[in-house]
This record gives sequence, structure tokens and C-alpha cells, in this order.
Amino acid sequence: MGVTLLRIFLFMLLISISNSYDRLTPAEPLTTGDKLISHGGIFALGFFSPTNSSANSYVGIWYHKIPVRTYVWVANRDNPIASSSPGKLVLTNGSDLVLSDSEGQTLWTTTNSISPGGIKTTAILLDSGNLVIRLANGTDIWQSFHHPTDTMLPDMSLPLSKNTSMHLVAWRGTDDPSSSDYSFGGDSSLQIFVWNGTRPYWRRAALNGVADYAMYQRNGLSMTQTIVNRGGEFYLMYTISDSSPSVRMTMHYTGMMQILVWNSSSSSWYCFFERPGSSCHRYASCGPFGYCDTTQEVATCKCLDGFESNSLKFTVGCQRKKELRCGTGDSFATLLNMKTPDKFLFIRNRSFDQCRAECSRNCSCTAYAYANLSSLGTTVDQSRCLVWMGELVDTEKRGDGFGENLYIRIPSSSGKHQTNGPMDFAIPEQLSNSDEQYNQNSEFLQISFEDIIPATNGFSDSNVLGKGGFGIVYKVT
Ligand SMILES: *[C@@H]1O[C@H](CO)[C@@H](O)[C@H](O)[C@H]1NC(C)=O
Ligand SMILES: *[C@@H]1O[C@H](CO)[C@@H](O)[C@H](O)[C@H]1NC(C)=O
Ligand SMILES: *[C@@H]1O[C@H](CO)[C@@H](O)[C@H](O)[C@H]1NC(C)=O
Ligand SMILES: *[C@@H]1O[C@H](CO)[C@@H](O)[C@H](O)[C@H]1NC(C)=O
Ligand SMILES: *[C@@H]1O[C@H](CO)[C@@H](O)[C@H](O)[C@H]1NC(C)=O
Ligand SMILES: *[C@@H]1O[C@H](CO)[C@@H](O)[C@H](O)[C@H]1NC(C)=O
Ligand SMILES: *[C@@H]1O[C@H](CO)[C@@H](O)[C@H](O)[C@H]1NC(C)=O
Ligand SMILES: *[C@@H]1O[C@H](CO)[C@@H](O)[C@H](O)[C@H]1NC(C)=O
Ligand SMILES: *[C@@H]1O[C@H](CO)[C@@H](O)[C@H](O)[C@H]1NC(C)=O
Repeated sequence: MGVTLLRIFLFMLLISISNSYDRLTPAEPLTTGDKLISHGGIFALGFFSPTNSSANSYVGIWYHKIPVRTYVWVANRDNPIASSSPGKLVLTNGSDLVLSDSEGQTLWTTTNSISPGGIKTTAILLDSGNLVIRLANGTDIWQSFHHPTDTMLPDMSLPLSKNTSMHLVAWRGTDDPSSSDYSFGGDSSLQIFVWNGTRPYWRRAALNGVADYAMYQRNGLSMTQTIVNRGGEFYLMYTISDSSPSVRMTMHYTGMMQILVWNSSSSSWYCFFERPGSSCHRYASCGPFGYCDTTQEVATCKCLDGFESNSLKFTVGCQRKKELRCGTGDSFATLLNMKTPDKFLFIRNRSFDQCRAECSRNCSCTAYAYANLSSLGTTVDQSRCLVWMGELVDTEKRGDGFGENLYIRIPSSSGKHQTNGPMDFAIPEQLSNSDEQYNQNSEFLQISFEDIIPATNGFSDSNVLGKGGFGIVYKVT
């Protein structure tokens, strides 16, 4: 009897201990060897050394249940703890997390600086992988999801506006969490880039209102990616179903933006999607007025209508076959299914006809494209008029039906052009044959909402999987 009671007591004690393991309070700092484990045991936070040394130079978050140690966040990536001195992570009375070494030097800190005034705060590691500093009334005054390292987890949102504090920045190497030159994030209000330093390396086409919802369901993975509009700002986010394996979107140190999925049978991560894929996908790889034709088995550079290869000049790209005659009879050729080029002017509050007129009346305008963003829930201005002045770069012809119309200015005599068709030209790098994977996984970062209609029997109720904050989720059959 006494033994049973003792057991129960020990069991209760264990529960109460493990319950407190997901949080830090000002009274209980975290020291080397300690770790926080999220309530459901999904994520852990603690000191670590990527090279397996005993140094424990960093504080980070990793998957608690996944046997291959995988870090999703690092606090002090550019300021490691010197090997000789064990560190300490403290939640201050001023509601800040402070990481310091044994000499009291601060290596990393949040900057909330909330005066104590009797406010009780706690730092909690959530099952989503988010570390939050929470006030007693439930308000989170800081969260690691707003200060990502190289990884975007489900339910985290990445703004499409330029906010470099929200960029994913790759590690320098497998064992080196310090910030490298490769980053992934929003740039203007409409696009997302992979950057190599300040140079674009890959670009996701501007929002167009139809190619901004994607869902995928296969091999137990059920994942939805979407663009959400919050107060007129667009955010990229993705969610997975409860039964799905773990998924992470990571800016890899090789410069690839990858979506990785955990395979518990093989006990490894597999790459579900990566960009840029072939060299043709790389930013502006086909030069000015060229485009990457991804409708071919091997993606190939071609010239836009009305242009021809300027290979004789030994530069990548294309030149006009016939000069424009500005004013007198230029017209616009409609190119279907295009990834719109970069470097546009975004003109607000225009109808389609007004957008065309904006381009038509200015001789420097080489192209325009129009979309209605109402499907993204834009309230005030739903129009998206883009015009291009001068060169068109990083254009693509898409074989997946997720592109949009691009209207390019041509001399009207070439309107019913009887050319020999667009001319292929080689680009410096060897074209890759490894596009198969991309075709299979399709453009996950850009799958059209329209395209799931046929696959879901016209949205019949039997295919509805659930309703989320951004609409109904259908099962693709
Ligand atoms: C780190 O140590 C663990 C356990 O000792 C071992 O399984 C793993 O292979 C080591 N990793 C590296 C990168 O050395
Ligand atoms: C927080 O305040 C309490 C009482 O005011 C004090 O005892 C404690 O040392 C403080 N903790 C930190 C981490 O500053
Ligand atoms: C919680 O408390 C903070 C600080 O006192 C305050 O700014 C915030 O509005 C409160 N939040 C709620 C939901 O009451
Ligand atoms: C950038 O993002 C951070 C974290 O979400 C936010 O606190 C900050 O206000 C944002 N800055 C701008 C200029 O939007
Ligand atoms: C990134 O830029 C550096 C320096 O310009 C260059 O050496 C490197 O090859 C680039 N990386 C890729 C993947 O193109
Ligand atoms: C997971 O790993 C197993 C065992 O290696 C393999 O048979 C299976 O195809 C993998 N699943 C996926 C989705 O890659
Ligand atoms: C949009 O343009 C119309 C005229 O075309 C104008 O009446 C309206 O005020 C404009 N709206 C905004 C938000 O600028
Ligand atoms: C055409 O657009 C260019 C670039 O925006 C501008 O500098 C120029 O003034 C415009 N010309 C006319 C006639 O509007
Ligand atoms: C966009 O589409 C919605 C719904 O079809 C329509 O109500 C709205 O007027 C359109 N807006 C523009 C600017 O074309």
C-alpha cells in the first residue's frame, strides 16, 4: 500500500517536473546540459555544438523526436560561446531572454525592456517550435518565429514586403551556423527571392491571385501553402495536417531553397522541392528579353516574340528583330502562361484598360501584365497592374498552367509575325537534366487554385478535408 502510494507520489512528481520543462522563468535559468522540451515533446531547446564537441557554443531549437539532430533555430549563430566558459540563458525581470557566458558577457539578447512592475513573464517553447516570451495575460511580446535563422516551420509566416529581419539566412556549412550570403525572403510587396549576397539567385513570380494557393497530398504528407493578406500585407505560409510527417522549409548552405520532409522508415529527410532547379531557373539566366522555356523536356532559353538571339555579340540574351516605331502603330503580343519578368513598376488602382493605356502611351514601356488579387482577400485595391520600362529579365514560359498573360510591345507589322519561331540559344552553364523531380512535384511554391478544381471533382463535399483560415482544403484525387 505504502509502496503504491510512493509510486503514485513519484509519478505525480515526475509529471509536475516534466510539465515545467517547457518554460523558463526569471527564477530558473537554463544552463549547459539543461534543456526545455515542448509540452508534446516535439521540440527541444538547449545548448549544443554542431561538431559534437563538448564546447556547447550555441543555444538552439531542434526536433526532440527525430533521431537525426536537426536545428531549426539558433539564438547566437554569429556569436558563439567560447569553449572554455559554459553559458547561461536567463529570462530577466525586464522580460528579456539573455544568453551570457561564464564571465557575464552578453552573447545574445532580446530587447523588450519591459519594466518589471509586477508583470509575470515566462519563456515557453511551444510544440510548433516557436519560443515565445509570454505575459501572464497571454500576450506574446517576443517570438522566435519573428526572428528566424534558416528555417521556416509550418504556421510561421514570411512577409513578402522587404523586411530583412524576417529573411531566412543559410548556415555557412553543415557544422557552421553563422550567417552566410544566401538568404530567402520578401523584397517588394509582391515577390520572394533567393539572394546570393545582394544578387538575386532565384525569384518567385509576382503574386497574381490565382497561383498563390497550393496543396499537396501524397505518401502521408498533407501540406498546404498559401499567401495570406493581413492588413494589406502579404505573407507566405504553409501548414501540414496533424498526421503529416515533419516538414521544414530551409535555406540550405548551398544556396538552394528546400522543402524537406521526414521519412521515418528511412530515418532521413528527403527533399520534396528545391529552387533554383536547373540552371535555366536561375535568376535572369536567359538574359534580357530571353525566357526559360520549361514546357520542354529540358528547360531551354528562348527569345521572346519579336526578338532574336544576340549570340553573335557573344552576350546572353536577345535583341529586337525590328525597332519599335513609337506612337505609330506599335501593338502588343500576348504571351500565355508566363512567369512575369522582374523589375516592374507596380501601378495601383487601375482597371485592365487603364493598365494597358499606362504602357501604351509611354514609348519606354516594353510590357504590361494585369491581375485581380481579390482571391487573396485584398479589401481596398484589388488591382495589380505591372508595367516594364526597358529590359525584361527572368521571364519563364510555364508548362504547368500556373502562369499569366504577358503583353509585350512589338512593331505592329510583326503582330502577325511569320518568323521561324523563337530561336533557342545556349546559356553558359551546362543545362541540367534533373528537372524530372520538379515536374513531379510541380511548382509547389506556385500551384494554381484553379488547377485543383478538376482534381477535386469540382469541389464536391466528399473531398473537403477541412476549413482553415484561408479557405476550404480539398483532397486531390
Ligand atoms: C555525433 O555524436 C553522435 C553520438 O555520439 C553520433 O551518432 C553522430 O554520428 C555524431 N555526429 C557527427 C557529425 O560527428
Ligand atoms: C528578479 O527580481 C527578484 C525580486 O525582485 C530578484 O530576487 C531576482 O534576483 C531578479 N531576477 C533576475 C534574473 O534579475
Ligand atoms: C497584457 O498586458 C500587457 C502589458 O500590461 C498589455 O500591453 C496588453 O494589452 C495585455 N493584453 C491583453 C490581451 O490584455
Ligand atoms: C519586420 O518584422 C519584425 C518581426 O516580425 C517586426 O517586428 C518589424 O516591425 C518588421 N519591420 C517592418 C519594417 O515591417
Ligand atoms: C554566389 O556568389 C559568389 C560570389 O559572387 C560566387 O562565388 C558563387 O558561385 C555564387 N553562388 C552560386 C550558387 O551561384
Ligand atoms: C521512405 O523510406 C523508405 C525506406 O527507405 C522508402 O521505401 C520510401 O520510398 C521512402 N518514402 C518516401 C516518400 O520517400
Ligand atoms: C481609384 O481610382 C478612382 C478613379 O479611377 C478614384 O475615384 C479612386 O479614388 C481611387 N482610389 C484610390 C484608393 O486611390
Ligand atoms: C515614360 O516612363 C519613364 C520611366 O518611368 C519616364 O521617365 C518618362 O517620363 C515617361 N514618359 C512619358 C511620356 O510619360
Ligand atoms: C476583381 O474581381 C472581383 C471578383 O470577381 C470583382 O468584384 C472586382 O471588381 C475585380 N476588381 C478589379 C480591380 O478588377
